[in-house]
Amino acid sequence: MTGTVAAGLTTGSAPFVEEARTRGELYITQAYELYSRQNHEAWASLYGRMHERWQRYANDHFLRGLEALDLPRDRVPRLEDVNRRLQAMSGFEARPVSGYVPGFLFFDCLSRREFPTTITIRDQARLDYLPEPDIFHDVAGHIPMHTEKAFADVLVRIGGCAHTAVALAARVRDREEQTRRLKNVIRAMSRFFWFTVEFGLMRTPRGVRAYGSGLLSSYGELQHAIESDEVQRYPVQLEWLINQGAEIDHYQPLLFIVDSFDHLFALVEELERWMQAGKLDNVAPGLPEIAAGDLQSFLDAAESL
Ligand SMILES: [Fe+2]
Repeated sequence: MTGTVAAGLTTGSAPFVEEARTRGELYITQAYELYSRQNHEAWASLYGRMHERWQRYANDHFLRGLEALDLPRDRVPRLEDVNRRLQAMSGFEARPVSGYVPGFLFFDCLSRREFPTTITIRDQARLDYLPEPDIFHDVAGHIPMHTEKAFADVLVRIGGCAHTAVALAARVRDREEQTRRLKNVIRAMSRFFWFTVEFGLMRTPRGVRAYGSGLLSSYGELQHAIESDEVQRYPVQLEWLINQGAEIDHYQPLLFIVDSFDHLFALVEELERWMQAGKLDNVAPGLPEIAAGDLQSFLDAAESL
């Protein structure tokens, strides 16, 4: 065979990352020198077109975070540069991973102020197509929010809920019942995360603005979420968050509004109280499906207690 393997860290075509996965390595290095010119151009295109939309539709915490991080516009950021600024502000750190992080490990990272961060970037020719998270979603969409101490504390608290879920599961002797309850609790936690950290809206003096990273990293959906008549926007209610199916393959028809990050923090505390009271053991069936690896990560953690 002639020719060389295309270099680069493109979503779905990044030998460096795929080999790490094959070796079972979850935590990797950013391998910055592997980014191709097209990878840097993809970042520049994504950043360039989002900038004006962020000014219009992002909440002020995000905009301040963006300014504080001073992310490069013309090339993929180096995580060590991002981390230097981020750690000084909230103690959080972006930690490069090879891809999917099983549920409990993901939440456990949050509880330690680590954010599992994808290093690959979407194909420059298909900027709107996102088959899985990429570095633009993780770094431009999530990380600016992590500079805000109150929001960072929310993430740590969500991570703490996963530890509570494991401690509760460890007390259930019957394996079938333990699995059934855990599936419900994981579904409730996933929905909570989805409708807040990924797709949350916040009431602000400038009107309703986005703080959810799924919105903040999507050129089309950010505007749609704030302006479209097709979107239902309701004040957040915990019982609705944990029972509403989360559909991932189209623009969200239903979004929830919080008043502040203190409000969000109080909701996480309530989520944990409900978990302890057994109220998350029987949430409404439906999406998201609980991946076998996510369930297993919780079972393994319960086993190890
Ligand atoms: Fe995300």
